[in-house]
Amino acid sequence: MATSGNWASGGAGWVAHEAIFDRVFAPLTAAILDSADLAAAQSMLDVGCGSGTLLAAAVERGVRATGVDISATMAEAARRRVPQATVHLADAESADLSFGGADPYERVLSRFGVMFFADPVAAFANLRSATASGGRLAFGCWRSLAENPSFTEGTSLLTAQLPDPPIQLDPAAPNSTSPHFTAPGPMAFADPDRLRTVLTDAGWREVVITPFDFTLDYGEGAAAVEDRIAIILATSTGARAERILRPALGDRGWAELVDRVREHVTAQLTYGRVQLPAATWLVTATS
Ligand SMILES: C[S@@+](CC[C@H](N)C(=O)[O-])C[C@H]1O[C@@H](n2cnc3c(N)ncnc32)[C@H](O)[C@@H]1O
Repeated sequence: MATSGNWASGGAGWVAHEAIFDRVFAPLTAAILDSADLAAAQSMLDVGCGSGTLLAAAVERGVRATGVDISATMAEAARRRVPQATVHLADAESADLSFGGADPYERVLSRFGVMFFADPVAAFANLRSATASGGRLAFGCWRSLAENPSFTEGTSLLTAQLPDPPIQLDPAAPNSTSPHFTAPGPMAFADPDRLRTVLTDAGWREVVITPFDFTLDYGEGAAAVEDRIAIILATSTGARAERILRPALGDRGWAELVDRVREHVTAQLTYGRVQLPAATWLVTATS
């Protein structure tokens, strides 16, 4: 059974800001699509499809697109956005991904949707069993927290106020294999050796794990600052901080705290733009 954090009951913040996420993740989206070689495929499965970015891209390329997501909010958003795709509300770790009869998929893709499985070997074996022989897996996932300041920049001003602030990072061990980094969560596959072992133990072959670095570019000026704040508050960490701190500080105290985040983001503008580095793995494998 997947522990998927709060995803099963969450996703509203993600859906509300899907356009910002799509803008800042655009370079990775393009890289996943390139490495998937969709032109040579007839069918694809998008794992943890969210509101359907990869489904839309597949449909545009004439590929039969199926999405699976554990969040009803996300699945509904994907159905709305990409009516030509078939979207299932299910746990990709354990569900029968043929959904009662679909042919095996020629491609299995994901953008940040495969790091939340309680038993990743079982989950990737389940994905493989739904993939045509010789079919391709292509996904993007985060590298370490230490290499991805977007998880802490600004957000740490909020989490510092929480009764149980998140653990401090050891910058000397960016790919730490402590439970914090192997537990289901965005950084579950920070360690490429662990990721390779998970995939090969699940039966995938020809595993290629390539670093893919890009810039999360929120755009220019005050609008970009507000977009960045919207994303900080839409993440599970930001949303949790708001849930706990807003009642504790009152609306005014909360607004003052968000103002401090706004000042922090503004102070870090680079030539007037909000930009943060992103460190991901681009992963391909064959079934
Ligand atoms: C970080 S979001 C990424 C969404 C989308 N792929 C995108 O890039 O916009 C992670 C997604 O994975 C989904 N998810 C998490 N665990 C899952 C599971 N066990 N089975 C299916 N979907 C899952 C979440 O509900 C969420 O939509």
